Amino acid sequence: MRLSSPLAALATLAAAALPAAYAQIAMASGMTADSYCNSGGQFCVTGVYVPSAQAVNYTVVVQKAGNTPYGWTGVGVGSGMAGANMVIGWVNGPGSATISHRSASGEVMPTEARVATNNLPAFTANSQTTTTAEYSVYSWLFPASSAPSGTVSHIYGYAGSNKAPSSSDSGATLRQHDTYGYFSLDMSKAYDGTAPAGLPNVAATTPSSTDSNGSSSGSAGYGQRNRDLSQMTTVVYLVHMIFMVVGLIVIAPLGILVARYGRTLFKWFPTHAGLQLFVVVLVIVGFALSVHNVMAQDKDSFSLLHHQLGLAIFILVIFQALMGALSHIIVRRTGFRYLGYFHALTGVVIFGLAVWNAHEGFELWTWQPPAYASYIIYAWAGVVALIYVIGFMFLPRERRQHKEWLANRNGGGSNQSLTHEKTPPHVA
Ligand SMILES: *[C@@H]1O[C@H](CO)[C@@H](O)[C@H](O)[C@H]1NC(C)=O
Ligand SMILES: *[C@@H]1O[C@H](CO)[C@@H](O)[C@H](O)[C@H]1NC(C)=O
Repeated sequence: MRLSSPLAALATLAAAALPAAYAQIAMASGMTADSYCNSGGQFCVTGVYVPSAQAVNYTVVVQKAGNTPYGWTGVGVGSGMAGANMVIGWVNGPGSATISHRSASGEVMPTEARVATNNLPAFTANSQTTTTAEYSVYSWLFPASSAPSGTVSHIYGYAGSNKAPSSSDSGATLRQHDTYGYFSLDMSKAYDGTAPAGLPNVAATTPSSTDSNGSSSGSAGYGQRNRDLSQMTTVVYLVHMIFMVVGLIVIAPLGILVARYGRTLFKWFPTHAGLQLFVVVLVIVGFALSVHNVMAQDKDSFSLLHHQLGLAIFILVIFQALMGALSHIIVRRTGFRYLGYFHALTGVVIFGLAVWNAHEGFELWTWQPPAYASYIIYAWAGVVALIYVIGFMFLPRERRQHKEWLANRNGGGSNQSLTHEKTPPHVA
């Protein structure tokens, strides 16, 4: 439940003044419980089986280090991301927190849509979900007709405040976790009446579970790193990445620069067209590979930004190739160049989108490329942009040459001097 601000402020005060009253869960017979805190103590999870509610009552408490809330925190019942029954919480404003019931088909962004696909029963968000100056609490019930017997496997993940979802919409896009791991709760232990672990001013239960991969700060990625090249999916994504980076990030801007400088310096059109045609082939194959993998894995995952941007880029690339060819024909026949200017603009836009999408792809990829992979691409894009902008210095000369060429052409001069020739021939 989301509280409006004055109410939330009151709730905050009440929580600070009466932590025990806020935190405790009424004791009853048949209750079992266990809790887990990560080794840094930044977040704790408590599960209490409540027979009267026929549910496990989960409470996640996230401390706000230096008043900076985690971007999001997720806990799931399961031993890996695929099919785990997850709840993800984040703060969306003063006193207001969102919790979202999610699932994933694999090591991809968990979505609300997957919950139904994975046949997970609906969860119930508790009104105790809130955020104060010291901590955030995410609380919910997962239905359970009887007390879970013994050890229950869980996964967790969290991301820094720079990755906070931008809205209070429970379906908001999540950016990849910074840290993840596994823990288990021994739900055969009787509940002793203590407050959920991690809440201040009350005796928290000591973490009793083993922190199997815990406090793995800095290890990023959706689930475990996967670089197993004996798996077809891994090979296909690797080839997809290579084709797209070589095509859109390396060759396409070279083709753009050939066009930018070539107009005034050398015979440019055959080189430009040849390079960009090669890019089109790489993009078509790279796109087909990724579609194949995504379809095989999860048909719903088109909600991911990388896939949406990728489709947009694919369509733009095809459109761009046709426009380039058409513009070339029109310039040859009529001397009309404005379509060419538009083509140049679209080319720059496509390159920018490709740089963005390369980063999005690296974030999703279970290969878990190092963060500097994106930085190398940004640096390269910066160099390309600089060289491109310097190329505008040739614009006046280009205009002059084009006028001369037009005059020459209209005067019945040699029609050798077309756009694919250096124009005029005396410029070496
Ligand atoms: C669930 O846990 C919260 C503590 O986070 C508690 O306040 C609430 O009363 C509990 N609900 C049920 C149904 O046990
Ligand atoms: C992490 O935990 C899982 C499940 O408990 C285990 O299979 C895996 O070997 C652990 N990995 C490391 C690096 O400890």
